[in-house]
Amino acid sequence: MTSPSPSVPPATAPHEKDVERRFLAGWPRLEARLAEVYGEDPRWATFIAALKEKVWAAAIARPPALRALDVQREASQDWLNLPGQGAYTFYVDRFAGDLPGVRERLDYLDDLGVHWLHPLPLLKPRPGDSDGGFAVADYRQIDPRLGDMDDLEALAADLRARDMGLILDVVCNHTAREHAWAQAARAGDPAYREYYITLDAEAAADRERHLIDVFPDTAPGSFTYDPDMGGHVWTTFYPFQWDLNYANPAVFAEMLAVLVFLASKGVQGFRLDSAPYLWKAAGTTSRNQPQAYAIVEAWHEALAIIAPSVVLVAEAIESLDDVLPFFGRDGRGCDLAYNNAVMTALWGALADADAGVFNRCLAASAGKPRRAAWLNYVRCHDDLIWNALAAYASPEDLARWSAFYGQGGGFSHGRAFQTAPGGVPSTNGMAAALAGLEPGEGPHSAGARRLTLLYGIVHALDGWPLIYMGDELGLPNDEAYADDPLRAADGRWLHRPAMDWSAAGRRNQAETLEAELFARFRHFGARARALAAQGVAGPARPVDLGSPAILAFERTEGAQNLLCLGNLAEAPVLATLPAPFSAAARDVLTGQNREGVSIELGPYELVWLVTP
Ligand code: GLC
Repeated sequence: MTSPSPSVPPATAPHEKDVERRFLAGWPRLEARLAEVYGEDPRWATFIAALKEKVWAAAIARPPALRALDVQREASQDWLNLPGQGAYTFYVDRFAGDLPGVRERLDYLDDLGVHWLHPLPLLKPRPGDSDGGFAVADYRQIDPRLGDMDDLEALAADLRARDMGLILDVVCNHTAREHAWAQAARAGDPAYREYYITLDAEAAADRERHLIDVFPDTAPGSFTYDPDMGGHVWTTFYPFQWDLNYANPAVFAEMLAVLVFLASKGVQGFRLDSAPYLWKAAGTTSRNQPQAYAIVEAWHEALAIIAPSVVLVAEAIESLDDVLPFFGRDGRGCDLAYNNAVMTALWGALADADAGVFNRCLAASAGKPRRAAWLNYVRCHDDLIWNALAAYASPEDLARWSAFYGQGGGFSHGRAFQTAPGGVPSTNGMAAALAGLEPGEGPHSAGARRLTLLYGIVHALDGWPLIYMGDELGLPNDEAYADDPLRAADGRWLHRPAMDWSAAGRRNQAETLEAELFARFRHFGARARALAAQGVAGPARPVDLGSPAILAFERTEGAQNLLCLGNLAEAPVLATLPAPFSAAARDVLTGQNREGVSIELGPYELVWLVTP
C-alpha cells in the first residue's frame, strides 16, 4: 500500500497503520466536503494540499495515552447510543472555584452518576464582560482565574481513569475583539483582516435587513463600527464578539487546529457554540446555511482521522428541521445535538397539561440519523427560546407559554428575556423556579414533582441526559446578579447561581428536599443505564393514550419494550395501557410488577413500564 501523503514513509507500527487506514477512508470524504465550500476559491489548491499534510501529521502525533479510546470507540459502531451517558454542565468558577476545585468534586459527580462533564467556556476570555466566557481571547490558554493547561490535562486524565469524559466549549463562530487574530487585523495585517468580515455602511445595512438580532436590547444590530478596521465588523452577538469569516479557508484550518490541540490535552468532545451562524450569505438570515453544515461535517471527517474518539455537539437552538442537518449526511456530522425542540416543548406541555406539542416534536426528532444521539435536557445556561418552536406550535401557543413562564400568573417564577421584533420573549430562570418550586418547599411539593417529572422524562428518552448544575438540588434563581455591573444587563445570569455546597451536603440528610431530589436524579441515571441490560433500544416515539394530560412514549426496537408515562396535571388521571403493557408490565422506577389495563397516575407522577 502506498503512503497517502508523499512526504511520509509507509506505515509500519500499529498506530501508523491505524492512521493510514483512517486516512485512506476519511480523506476523500473530508476533501469532498471542503470542496463543496471552498472548491471554487482561488486559494483551494494551496489550502487543500497544506491541510492534507496537517491532518496526516496531527493523526500521527496523537498522544499515545489517548489512542486506546480512539481504537475502542471506532470498534463500537453504536457506542454513542449506549445508555448511561449522563452529562453535567456547569460554570467552573460557580461550581468549584477553579479546575483543581472541579477535580476535588468528582466524587460528588460520580455519586450523582454522570459520565460526562461539560464545563462552560474556560479558555482565556477577554477582560471584563466576556458573555460568560463566550468571547475567547486565546484558544490555547485556560482562563488564568480557573487554572492552566496542566490543570485541564489533569482533570481530563482523572476523568479518563474514572471512565468519564470531558466536553469543552469551542466558541467557533467568533473570537473576542482582543484575540491575537483580531489585533493583527486591526493593526492592518491583510491576512488577518480576512479572518473577519468588515463591510461599508451601505453593505452592512443591506445585510442587516435580513438578520435577526440575538440580543436586541443589550446588543442591537449585527455590526459594530471599528475605526481600525475601517468599517462595520460583523458581530452577531455582543460588539466585542467578532464573527469569524469562514469564507476564508484559513479560518476553517485554524479552528481545526484548535480542536486538535485541545483534543491532544485529553478533551473528548466539543460543543460547537453558535454553529448555525458559521456561514453568511447575502439576502438570508445567515443562519443554517448549507455551508455551515458542510463545515461541521468536515470537522467531523478530520477528527475521524485524527482523534476518532472525540465527539462534536451541535449547539443549534433553532427549529428542529434546521438542527437535524447538523448530524450530517449519513450521520457523518455532529455526533450529538441539543434536543432543544423536545426540551422547550416539555415546558410548553407542562404549562398546558397537554402533551400535544411534545408529541409533535418527539415524533420529528426521531428522524435523526441512527448513529447520532440527542442531548436531552431540561435547562441550560441560556434562555428558553420559544420562537424556536414556531414550526410546531401556533403563535398563540408561543405567546401563552412565554407569558406563563416569564410574566407570572402560572406556577412559574421565571422572567422574560429580550427578543427580536416579531418573536415572543424567551424566558430566564432555574428549572426549579420555572417548575414553581419555592425556596423552603419540601420534596413532595407540586414544584418538586414537576421538576422531577421533567428530569425523569429526559432520562427515559434515547440519547444522553444532561443535568444543569444545581437542578439536582432544586437550586433557586440567583437574584444577586443584578448587583454586579458586569452581569446586571444580561438576565440569563438569573439562572447561573453559585453552587450551594451546604445544600449539596443536605443530600445526606433524609427527608430534605435535596436528599429526595438528588436520590431521584441518581435513580433516573441508574435505571436508564439498566434499560440497556433489559434490552430496551431504539428511538422514543410518542403514544396517544387519549388524555392530553398524559405524556407517553415508547421505545420498541429492542428485546424489551419501554413505555414511559407522565401525568402533566396536578389532578390524578386514569390511563388505559396499550398492548403488550396491558397484559403485564414492570415499573422500572419502583421495581413493582403490575397487571391490568388501566393505571392511575397521581399528580405529576411518572412511570417507566417494561414488558416482563
Ligand atoms: C451560545 C451560548 C450563549 C452565548 C452565545 C454567543 O448561544 O450558549 O451563552 O451568549 O452562544 O457565544
